[in-house]
Amino acid sequence: MSHQVTDLEPSAAASGNAATDLFRQSGKTGGATASTERVSLLANEVLAAVYETVRKHEVTYEEFNALKAWLIQVGEDGEWPLFLDVWVEHVIEEVATSGRTGSKGTIEGPYYVPNAPQQATPATLPMRDDEPGTPLVLRGTVTGTDGTAQAGAHVEIWHADDDGFYSQFAPGLPQWNLRGIVVADEQGNYEINTVQPAPYQIPTGGSCGNLITAAGWHAWRPAHLHLKVSAPGRQLLTAQLYFEGDSYLSNDIASAVKPELILRPTPTDSGREVTYDFLLDPA
Ligand code: DHB
Ligand code: FE
Repeated sequence: MSHQVTDLEPSAAASGNAATDLFRQSGKTGGATASTERVSLLANEVLAAVYETVRKHEVTYEEFNALKAWLIQVGEDGEWPLFLDVWVEHVIEEVATSGRTGSKGTIEGPYYVPNAPQQATPATLPMRDDEPGTPLVLRGTVTGTDGTAQAGAHVEIWHADDDGFYSQFAPGLPQWNLRGIVVADEQGNYEINTVQPAPYQIPTGGSCGNLITAAGWHAWRPAHLHLKVSAPGRQLLTAQLYFEGDSYLSNDIASAVKPELILRPTPTDSGREVTYDFLLDPA
């Protein structure tokens, strides 16, 4: 695949460009059929917010030109998907899912890759023979908000490794490392064997990193598992699960943590395990 990262060192430009290529190929780019009224309304209101900020804080020509240079650089680094997913997607998700009564979701982020290998439950995600990290078992049941078991539901999962790197966005990892679709059984039960992901630092070497440094922010997201849970006749649930005790739960750079999404794993002989059930809204 052309979005695979081939450099030897992880770099912001490589992961940014990979995320940009992936988005271009995703089929999501031509979806909006907005009326001229809608485009005009949204563009006017966004610009009005910009004018207000300029007037309120007396933004200078030097600052305006620094912004121009930075915006140009975001495109050159391929970091628009990263920027939008970190600083905007959480509000889009909030609005899109406000009518739901089932499980909470959160942002997808820039690193979802479709067509991961599929396995029946109980499943072990594709991983290296010597995959570093504490073994983690995630299991539970997929039901509808009406209580019906979702036989054969798909629990798709992707996450960073013990070094905080995602396969296909950092060099040297097998294509589908720590990515897979697990098919639930007749009762909607699923079990996924994987390893504990590390907290994730958004790439610091590119323009998003420059903004973070210039503003004196930090670049971290709490450790997380990404999930897409689906079943026929149900709304797709895009979620992330976090871990109790993580220092970035209350200050996620992507503002994507919700209390309902925090796991409390318990120790086992070989690692940790946790149960998490999904409730899917009707389509
Ligand atoms: C980004 C990375 C993630 O893993 C995520 O979940 C959200 C955003 C990012 O780098 O933009
Ligand atoms: Fe992520």
